[in-house]
Amino acid sequence: EGIKMDEEYILAIDEGTTTARAMIFDHNGRKVAAARHPIRQILPNPGWVEHDASEIWNAVQTTIATALIESGIKPKQIKSIGIASQRETTVVWDKNTGLPIHNAVVWQSRQTVSLANKIIDEGYKDEIHQKTGLIVSPYFSATKVRWILDHVEGAQERAEKGELLFGTINTWLLWQLTDGESFLTDYANASRTMLYNINDLTWDDDLLKLFNIPKSMLPEVRSNSELFGTTKSYHFYGSEIPITGMTGSQQASLIGQMAFDKGMVKNTYGTGAFVVMNTGEVPALSDNNLLTTIAYGINGKINYALEGSVFVAGAALQWLRDDLRIIKRTPDTQQAAMRSTSRDEVYVVPAFSGLGAPYWDDKAHGTVFGLTRGTNKDDFIKATLQAIAYQTKDIIDTMSSDSKTPIDILKVDGAATANEYLMQFQADILDIPLQRAEELETTSLGAAFLSGLGSGYWKDIDDIKKNYQSGDVYEPKMENEVRDNLYAGWKEAVNATMAFKH
Ligand code: G3P
Repeated sequence: EGIKMDEEYILAIDEGTTTARAMIFDHNGRKVAAARHPIRQILPNPGWVEHDASEIWNAVQTTIATALIESGIKPKQIKSIGIASQRETTVVWDKNTGLPIHNAVVWQSRQTVSLANKIIDEGYKDEIHQKTGLIVSPYFSATKVRWILDHVEGAQERAEKGELLFGTINTWLLWQLTDGESFLTDYANASRTMLYNINDLTWDDDLLKLFNIPKSMLPEVRSNSELFGTTKSYHFYGSEIPITGMTGSQQASLIGQMAFDKGMVKNTYGTGAFVVMNTGEVPALSDNNLLTTIAYGINGKINYALEGSVFVAGAALQWLRDDLRIIKRTPDTQQAAMRSTSRDEVYVVPAFSGLGAPYWDDKAHGTVFGLTRGTNKDDFIKATLQAIAYQTKDIIDTMSSDSKTPIDILKVDGAATANEYLMQFQADILDIPLQRAEELETTSLGAAFLSGLGSGYWKDIDDIKKNYQSGDVYEPKMENEVRDNLYAGWKEAVNATMAFKH
């Protein structure tokens, strides 16, 4: 095995919220190199999250260099590059100098809450949902662009003169790699801006007017797998390498999980958890506040998706570790949960940033229910892990009723899938099997597949599917009565949480 000097490889860039990664894959979809670099979180005010876009570009260059050096793969052995990135995060930069005019405003940031509420109060909620598939929220890019143009002196005027560009992280990285030659985005990332009409596949003039954003700031939108440009040789150690795949992180992991068929669903357990279902070639709007979004466009065909996000998943385990300090490392939660023998039903509702889909309650705070004098640390940890599984079930149930499609298996990836207790409890509470990916870096793998399809490294989707390797499967084992009783308790806990508005 090992690295062959006469072989070609695919380089995937996965620029996430907390880490930039570069991974190299071979023709069997096997990972042969991996490098990571942390991204600094800039927190200027409570609830605000920003990144330094120039630091992101540097971090990406560092990880690429590390992956190449550590594997011994020569830059010219890279057949093509794919980019997956955190979505929605907004960069505005000067077209001539290439310098950002403000920190990037991150998807999690709450600095545009009042602007989003104003748009809702003015009655645009339904129109925006119809056009973009999205719920009006500070989460998406539109209000963030507006915010930057309002807060940097003279920015609106410069934007109107055509001097400023807006991009999400994928576009920013492509622009850097090609030194300003390619100013492009892709369907999946565009569908998260709240400016893109997912039915007509165009930037929506009415929405641009509503947010007063000049069209000249916007990148052209392309499919997820085609030639986006070529690296400048001085940015790639003497080689000009084509960039042939691009998408958002959650759509990338859908592809890394090979969920190409209508009805397939994946959940990525990270800081939050993102559940995405491939709903086929027609956009289906949710009646229950799930998002409709573009899954991918490949070879002239678009697939849509339903998406639900759990705001706090792995973050609840970090809370146990860093704030309550009842565990040393998050993996310790597995043993703790397995040790818990109490028959008490303890519920932790980690509504630290309100509740996401399907509740969308901005004002909810976290709660705990069902404590007795005998409740111990392990019981509390178990209840926190269970909350991740219950929140996922809330979304899966909604998805299945919105799409009128029964879900018979859930594909899972992300760090917390290493937790055996969580996986088994998740299968039990959903009453469907879970299938864990063998390659847990599904986001990078998805970016590599899109790129390899675009550069002819792999022939077609069937050729890619040959590389699928399933990891462990968790079968549900819980009795119906036990499950129904537990889940009814969770529902009661959530309702009580939403009623508590102190
Ligand atoms: O919508 C936000 C999401 O794209 C962030 O994902 O995992 O790349 O940080 P991640």
